Amino acid sequence: MLKFARARAGRAPEDNAETEPVAASPSGASAPDADRSAARFQLCVCDGPSCGLSSGPLRERLAARVAADPDLAARVRVYDYGCFGRCGEGPNLFVRALAEGDDPDGEPPVEQLLRQRGFYPGVDAAACDRLLEEHCGRGQPVEDLVDDY
Ligand code: FES
Repeated sequence: MLKFARARAGRAPEDNAETEPVAASPSGASAPDADRSAARFQLCVCDGPSCGLSSGPLRERLAARVAADPDLAARVRVYDYGCFGRCGEGPNLFVRALAEGDDPDGEPPVEQLLRQRGFYPGVDAAACDRLLEEHCGRGQPVEDLVDDY
């Protein structure tokens, strides 16, 4: 299910304290440049029983930053994922590169996740911004943050 800037039901406004006004893009660019990737991505944000307790502000931040950047908005979708099975490391998310024909709003096949380098455990606001800028923006996994899945 697509979750652009959705309010978190049952959460107090202060739960979204990490969400702040966003610039046009993480890089400050308002239009695609030569360094930007053309790849499409699905940001699978864990909404499982553990990560879901703390991932709301990150989801909101991701959605706001994607929506504020026309290039990312055209290529990146935010998706609520059930659970990655690494619940003690959350909040977790996976930056999934979409191949031709992949549904950006559908459940990703686990075997596809296992083949890609895109699992980010313990994501905070700074990590969120970096993975948007580097992984989604330039198509390069953030090597000091990404982990095998
Ligand atoms: S709740 Fe996020 S990995 Fe299980």
